[in-house]
Amino acid sequence: MIAIGSDHGGFALKEEIKKHLAEQQIPYEDFGTYSTDSVDYPLIAEKVCAAIVDGKCEKGILCCGTGIGISMAANKIHGIRAALCSDYFSAKYTRLHNDANVICMGGRTIGPGLALELVDVFLRTPFEGGRHARRVEQLMKLEEK
Ligand code: RB5
Repeated sequence: MIAIGSDHGGFALKEEIKKHLAEQQIPYEDFGTYSTDSVDYPLIAEKVCAAIVDGKCEKGILCCGTGIGISMAANKIHGIRAALCSDYFSAKYTRLHNDANVICMGGRTIGPGLALELVDVFLRTPFEGGRHARRVEQLMKLEEK
């Protein structure tokens, strides 16, 4: 199950991504927002990330205008490794090397064609483990600081 959410700046992109997931029969839960009315992105990030931390959803997709605010919010939540992506290589390697569990994108910075490619590679790429597992463990220990 994929958790998905956006603020108003990422709403249109979120709707495109939902269609794309549905076409591939990938189950998702939409945590809002549900219109283009202005909303605060930290509240959406909180809902999507809670679903992941609780184990209800495996991975998350978050969109805001730039992807920056919503990725900052997501990375404040313990257990979340959110990656702001706007290129294919980063979306792939953040899974292989960082075991990212949330991808963030900007609805005002990238087009839907690219965004759907990023979603696909993010969702299908496994974590490589090995030396990267040690680094991810070190990363997660920083949450105790
Ligand atoms: C909302 O206007 C905008 O600030 C938000 O979508 C995002 O880009 C923040 O980082």
